[in-house]
Amino acid sequence: MSRAKKPIRFGLIGLGLMGREFGSAAARWCHLLNLDFVPQIVGICDSNPALFGWFEDNFDTITIKTTNYHDLLASTEIDAIYCAVPHNLHAQMYCDIVRAGKHLLGEKPFGIDLAANEQILACLAEHPQVFVACSSEFPFFPAAQRVMRYIQEERFGTILEVWSGLLHSSDLDPNKKINWKRVVEVNGEYGCMGDLGMHAMHIPLRAGWLPSNVRAMLSNIVTQRPNAAGELVPCETWDNATLACEVDANGQSFPLYLQTYRIAPGETNTWYIRILGTKFSVEYSTKHPKTLRTLSYTSGGEQAWNVLDLGYETAYPTITGGIFEFGFSDGLLQMWAAFCDQLVNGRAGMKQPFYCATPEETHQHHRVLTAALQSHAQQSVVMLGAQPATSA
Ligand SMILES: NC(=O)c1ccc[n+]([C@@H]2O[C@H](COP(=O)([O-])OP(=O)(O)OC[C@H]3O[C@@H](n4cnc5c(N)ncnc54)[C@H](O)[C@@H]3O)[C@@H](O)[C@H]2O)c1
Repeated sequence: MSRAKKPIRFGLIGLGLMGREFGSAAARWCHLLNLDFVPQIVGICDSNPALFGWFEDNFDTITIKTTNYHDLLASTEIDAIYCAVPHNLHAQMYCDIVRAGKHLLGEKPFGIDLAANEQILACLAEHPQVFVACSSEFPFFPAAQRVMRYIQEERFGTILEVWSGLLHSSDLDPNKKINWKRVVEVNGEYGCMGDLGMHAMHIPLRAGWLPSNVRAMLSNIVTQRPNAAGELVPCETWDNATLACEVDANGQSFPLYLQTYRIAPGETNTWYIRILGTKFSVEYSTKHPKTLRTLSYTSGGEQAWNVLDLGYETAYPTITGGIFEFGFSDGLLQMWAAFCDQLVNGRAGMKQPFYCATPEETHQHHRVLTAALQSHAQQSVVMLGAQPATSA
């Protein structure tokens, strides 16, 4: 361990898909340049101890292995927790973590529903000394960072419309086995919106584009799936959601379309954003990870899309040359750098300005998703103006 770098001693709760991604990001911290802090994985917890092995094989800093997360919270050797567990556990665990005085990067949706999210936010309000953020890595893609900059520079003129979404396709296979993400009790009523909604909403919410109303179309396409034993069981979660919202912000009113699809044929993990304006438009999709399309317009001028291949132009500098491609695990590494940077230096002292999704942004996204459920159930437009969401 370099003496120049401040270690942030982490405990991990949930060692599944995302827990291992954090392990990998911490293991290649040397990829990042000029940082004076480094995450150190000290404690690991999962209810399934079979998952300890990969961490034991790859990290010699682990001193606590447990199936009971309270053991990590009781340890004075741990400063911060990354918690990546099923959604029905978020409220209890996040609150226990915060009450134990540990900093937290929690996974989305940050509570299984609006009530759970508000329970978490109430705990945070009682423990303001604890730093808490929500995982959301796509805005750290170089092109997404550019989009954010264009928004801050107010380049668009009158905004015509905004599209933002995350598209998956593996659920197109009706024989894909059911897992907790397709079970309402564990994943939540939101279904695909709870899984993917924060990805679609992080940039719009950071831009201040909280919708004033929502009309939602939700589809449950595959209603049964095989379980581990091969028997067909109900699959009740929403597969696809399209939310058509209206934004009234900064003197502008425009439609915001949010797509969270688990069944989008051909799409592996496509995160995209498109902002169309009278003076400037921008389009980016991780389907073409380098390619940013922009269109500048002045009266009487031509309307031509400009195509720019961005390379590895990151928020935090790295060893990778600017000509090379950026990907999912790079986004996570950048997000982790932002979390640790803010933890060590505070928001005002960060080495770059884009900070992780905030608990308040998760609350806004819960309000939108709750309104979407209501809209679909009532086949109506639901206003977000007052809390709780009311029908128009
Ligand atoms: N940011 C992203 O891109 C992204 C991607 C996928 C999932 N997620 C989010 O990450 C979270 C976890 O998803 P995942 O895909 O890693 O799921 P996963 O099923 O792969 O991992 C979850 C782990 O939690 C463990 N667990 C369950 N109950 C536990 C308990 N009581 N104590 C300790 N461990 C327990 C499970 O054994 C499992 O290993 C979810 O909130 C999900 O929405 C985020």
